[in-house]
Amino acid sequence: MKGIILAGGAGSRLYPMTLVASKQLQAVFDKPMIYYPLTTLLEAGIREIALVSTPEDLPRFKKLFGDGSRLGASFTYFEQPQPEGIPQAFLIAEPFIRGESVALILGDNIFCGITGFTEAVRDFKQGAVNFGYYVNEPERYGVIAFDASGQATDIVEKPEKFISSYVLPGFYIYDAEVVERTRALKPSKRGELEITDLSRSYMKDGKLKVKLLPRGVAWLDAGTPSAMHDAAAYIQTVEKRQGIKIGCPEEAAVEHGFVSQAQFEKMIGTLPRGEYRSYLETVVQRKLRGSK
Ligand code: DAU
Repeated sequence: MKGIILAGGAGSRLYPMTLVASKQLQAVFDKPMIYYPLTTLLEAGIREIALVSTPEDLPRFKKLFGDGSRLGASFTYFEQPQPEGIPQAFLIAEPFIRGESVALILGDNIFCGITGFTEAVRDFKQGAVNFGYYVNEPERYGVIAFDASGQATDIVEKPEKFISSYVLPGFYIYDAEVVERTRALKPSKRGELEITDLSRSYMKDGKLKVKLLPRGVAWLDAGTPSAMHDAAAYIQTVEKRQGIKIGCPEEAAVEHGFVSQAQFEKMIGTLPRGEYRSYLETVVQRKLRGSK
């Protein structure tokens, strides 16, 4: 399966920080925000990755990741000139998708814990798989309606009236029909193609599965300064307690065998001395000891 990270948008809620770098390049505790969704893709076994962002920010992402070979991955870059909707990523990245199934992750979505994404990617055959997460303020998201038997029956973007507490986080899996189905979408009232309309199109044809994320998974929002601060505090707390990093793509790459231990050690040698490099050195030690 291929992966797309959507990392564009105006980032206006993070002004003035986004004057100099896009939202997804801002630090969340000890690394750029985009490291988290990138690690989620790598942990799910996806290493052919397209990154979609604005013409201004794309060069910065290229500087950060290059061709991806350092992570045993391959990166392709696409410009989204205007933020005309999340599913537009599939039209822009069509030459990359090339008739395969694809997982899309939003560049500002942070997942911590056992999400089940890896199994969902591994077992995916056709149609679409989306996820449901229980939240306190569902009206801010795409909300899922269920019938009495627990079957998902509808998806509504930011509903005004309460429907349910389960919402769609920014990780979506679709089969190769995604491009044609996106082409058939019409812009919503806010003038954008909506990801919820795309998933509804699969749902109408009985081709959408919704998997609920288990209790204990943290899906963090980093869309405002205060949410960013909360996310950073959560990550710092867990990292300090466990001595294990969340959102470390280099570690995910070596754990999945995308790079060999020797390549990993060589790569570490090129990094500046500091806390991040020291952490990667502990990963090597852990692997040498054969402990998890
Ligand atoms: O975070 C999950 C939610 O993301 C879902 O529950 C909603 O169904 C979905 O519509 C979306 O809601 P948001 O209101 O958070 O969408 P937003 O417009 O903020 O876009 C999410 C991210 O995608 C943001 O970091 C910017 C980026 N983006 C967005 C659009 C519309 C782009 O790069 N290009 C775009 O055209």
